[in-house]
Amino acid sequence: MDEIKRVTTETFRRKKTAGEKIVMVTAYDFPFARLVDEAGVDGILVGDSLGMVVLGYETTIPVTMEEILHHTRAVLRGARRALVVADLPFLSYQTGEEEALRNAGSLLKAGAAAVKLEGGREYAGMVKRMVTAGIPVMGHLGLTPQSIHEFGGYGLRAKEAASAVKLLEDALALAEAGVFAIVLEKIPREVAAEVTARCPVPTIGIGSGPDCDGQVLVLHDLLGLYEEFKPRFVKRYAELGAAVREAVGRYVSEVRGGEFPGPEHAWGMEPDQLATFRAQLDQMEGGTNDTGQDR
Ligand code: KIV
Repeated sequence: MDEIKRVTTETFRRKKTAGEKIVMVTAYDFPFARLVDEAGVDGILVGDSLGMVVLGYETTIPVTMEEILHHTRAVLRGARRALVVADLPFLSYQTGEEEALRNAGSLLKAGAAAVKLEGGREYAGMVKRMVTAGIPVMGHLGLTPQSIHEFGGYGLRAKEAASAVKLLEDALALAEAGVFAIVLEKIPREVAAEVTARCPVPTIGIGSGPDCDGQVLVLHDLLGLYEEFKPRFVKRYAELGAAVREAVGRYVSEVRGGEFPGPEHAWGMEPDQLATFRAQLDQMEGGTNDTGQDR
């Protein structure tokens, strides 16, 4: 069997230089990691969107390091080629550089190739320390869901000139600090295009138009598995939610109607063993009647 060549952070850089699009998607478990890896994505993000689309939280804020670690390990068992990036959850890095370094390091020790954190120039020092310690970091600007209570909603970010300039400066500060790529979430396409043109590291867009160096989507949005709401920037490539309901609905009705399991799903005994088994049952019943000891 041919050896599989792993995607690295260097691959991301090369793709930007070559003008080749970088494709990322989220995954949170072994089977989907295996499937998206086989489908050819360059990167898998174990995003803290885990909290909403898999664990049923209302926001990403309750997600813990333990949860991200648990799901990162599962994804790593399924991903053979893609670069696996693990999200640093809320309060795993905002509390100081030592704790941030320890938490990022534990994700790398679990096998992730890189970590992602939300925020701009205020995290440049922290990024520098992580990168110096050998931890590749992906930035995340624009709509940053861990700050949802600060902004009060999931609206478009950097839509005024001043905030667009600030976002560009944040991107340049993160690149200077050493991030290998930056997620740009839900900003106007013109802003994303300018940041992409001016930033030396690849930009990975989500809801930020076609001019980023790459794209990322939440897998459960793309597959129609998360039905609570669908952002406008999501394209559904499948309706797995409906497919699961239909399939399990058929299973329910076939079990209740006696159609499943069919003869092809069960095993019978060899005739001689069956005859012996029945004879022994008869004997047991006869024996019980004789002694009456079970009464
Ligand atoms: O948590 C996540 O899935 C993310 C993507 C939306 C970029 O951060």
